[in-house]
This record gives sequence, structure tokens and C-alpha cells, in this order.
Amino acid sequence: MFSAVVRRLCIDLGHRATLPGMNADSWLTDTRTSYDTVAVSYADYIREALAGAPYLRAALALFADLVHATGGGPVADVGCGPGHITAHLGELGLDAFGVDLSPVMIDVARRDHPGLRFEVGSMTDLDLADESVAGLLACWSLIHIPDEAVPTVFGHFRRVSRPGAPLLLGFHVGSESRLKTQGYGGHPMKVHVHRRRPEQVAAWLREAGFTVEAHLLTDPDESLPGALLFARRPPLGPPPTRS
Ligand SMILES: C[S@@+](CC[C@H](N)C(=O)[O-])C[C@H]1O[C@@H](n2cnc3c(N)ncnc32)[C@H](O)[C@@H]1O
Repeated sequence: MFSAVVRRLCIDLGHRATLPGMNADSWLTDTRTSYDTVAVSYADYIREALAGAPYLRAALALFADLVHATGGGPVADVGCGPGHITAHLGELGLDAFGVDLSPVMIDVARRDHPGLRFEVGSMTDLDLADESVAGLLACWSLIHIPDEAVPTVFGHFRRVSRPGAPLLLGFHVGSESRLKTQGYGGHPMKVHVHRRRPEQVAAWLREAGFTVEAHLLTDPDESLPGALLFARRPPLGPPPTRS
């Protein structure tokens, strides 16, 4: 318990250090508190969702193929929530582990998937070693990161990715942001939800040093379209040739 409190404090302080003067990251605290509140009901809500999401399943299968094609290794599911996607990646043969801002969500993930590794952490201050993951995905977790913090997050994603490692992002498509005040059975929340244009996300990724490879637009005729965007930390090039 004590270490969890210290870790939470470190996440806050670490983030403050990267964004000086920014409203003492109240958005990060609000997001964590919100998902702590809804963690159990969110897990119930999402548990069977993959069964009804053929395009997401196909994207995850492709992601797994891309990781295997680079030789495999640890794969980070960042903003993993209750860990159902982490577990699915495990079933696809990946060595997947989850990271989430919400300690209660991590408790739920550990309860539901006792054989997998889950850690509390923030993508704004990702506590993973440089070049330690063979793939990274962030599905509907980047939606809670304000624009000004996205370059920091993508900088961490690039830093922790091995050369050649694929990245898969899932996010809501659009241009507006809204404050969500309740969810998953009427529980109180205070969390900003940012929709994004894939072109904007791709531009941020290129600035961070990723190569953008593909994106799939889901539910374009619905009120909440989604994007599944594939990128990659470029592989190391051949050594320069002497002339
Ligand atoms: C909408 S849920 C998505 C969960 C899961 N990826 C899924 O697809 O169902 C958003 C998750 O992102 C997590 N999250 C939000 N901000 C985060 C941050 N800065 N770092 C890590 N996780 C974060 C939340 O705690 C929550 O579990």
C-alpha cells in the first residue's frame, strides 16, 4: 500500500517535471480517480467486447504478426484497463503485459488475468527501460491525454520501443473534446475525452520519430468513428558505406 502511494506520487511529480506550470496535472489525477471509481463496472462492460469487434480483432492479429515478424519479445499494452486486450495478445502468442494509470484497474486486471503482468504507471512518464519492448499498443487510452502532452507520450513510446517495433493506437475520430462526468452505470467521472483526426495523430508520430504504416477507420457512419493506426519505430539502417 505504501509503495503504491509513493509510486502514485512519483507519477504526479514526474509529470509535473515534464509540463511545468500546467495546472498541477489535475487532469491526470482526475483521470486516475475516475477510472478507480469505474474500474469494476468498466471490466464488466468490456469483458466480452472483443467478440463483437471483428476489425479490432483483425488489427490485433495483424499487430501480433508484425511483432512475431521482428523476432518477438515483450509487448506493452499501455492504458490496458482491465487487461482483456493484453490477455487476447497473450492468446495470440505474444509476451504481453499491461500498464495503467488506475491502481484499481490494475487490481481488476490482476484478478481477471492472474497469469499476466500488470503495473501501475502513466504513459506521460512511462517507467520502462529504453528499447525494452518489441511492440506497444495504446487502445482508447490516448483519448484522455491533452494535445500538449501527446508529444511527451509519443517520445516515451519511441524511447521504450526497440528499432523495428510496431505501434498500434486505437482512438476516437473527430475534432472535439468533451468532459465526461459519469459512465459505466452512472458512476461519477471527471475525465476529458479527446477525439482526433488520424492525420493529426500521424503528424505527431512522425515528429516523434515513428514511420506511419496504415490506418483503418471504423464505424465511419456512426456518431463515434474510431481509428486503428499502425506505426513503427524505424529499424536500424545498414552501417554507412565507405566510398
Ligand atoms: C477507455 S479505457 C480503455 C481501456 C482498454 N485499453 C480498452 O481498450 O478497453 C482508458 C484507460 O486508459 C487509462 N489511462 C488514462 N490515462 C492514462 C495514462 N496517462 N497512462 C496510463 N493509462 C491511462 C485509464 O485508467 C483507463 O484504464
